[in-house]
Amino acid sequence: MKYKLLYFISSLWLLVSCGSKDVTPPDPCIGVNYNVEYFKTEAIGVSNNGTITINFPVGDTISYQLNNGAFQSENFFTNLAPGNYVLTVKNSKGCTDTAQFTILNYGPKYALVKQVIKGYCGPCHLNGAVTAGKNFDSDANIIASWDRIKARAVDNIPTQMPLAPNAPLTPVDKQKITDWVNAGHRQSD
Ligand code: HEC
Repeated sequence: MKYKLLYFISSLWLLVSCGSKDVTPPDPCIGVNYNVEYFKTEAIGVSNNGTITINFPVGDTISYQLNNGAFQSENFFTNLAPGNYVLTVKNSKGCTDTAQFTILNYGPKYALVKQVIKGYCGPCHLNGAVTAGKNFDSDANIIASWDRIKARAVDNIPTQMPLAPNAPLTPVDKQKITDWVNAGHRQSD
């Protein structure tokens, strides 16, 4: 009985130790990391209409997940509320990588002003350009310069911006800036 037990234990040990000698295949995810590239639009007003489109990585074998949602093959998400998000990308081998992004909340008037500035103020004050100390890439910079933006692009005091001979803002676009300034010139207006 004693020997039987000993035999049983030793054969169990043999089983376990041989089992552990199984060659584990190399982890297919080692070295997999993606510099995720995306384009996002902010949520405007109370509509929770932010969006994100992933430009890299894309392809049949890639799927995407937002926070704890389900993985999907489409490379975009819509109807996003303002807030912080974790985006997970997964390849065909199940390897994942993540990126974090924030959907901001823009007031409807500010959203229009942002478009006007993008349309008229490059290249001189956009994409890193800092002409006359003014760069309008960030919301903070636009908001801090609200009075100068109105003076130069709406009232043309002392002279017109965009710098002549570039075309001035249309009356409709000038009105967008005026409306935002009158509403309080905040990001939430
Ligand atoms: C083609 C280049 C160009 C474009 C486009 C342009 N600017 Fe300028 N901006 C300049 C130059 C040059 C100066 C410095 C000379 C001056 O102040 O007139 C300047 C200066 C400014 C200043 C700082 C001086 C001040 O009066 O406070 C503001 C503000 C400004 N621009 C706003 C704008 C806005 C808003 C737009 C778009 C609606 C715009 N600019 C488009 C070239 C440009």
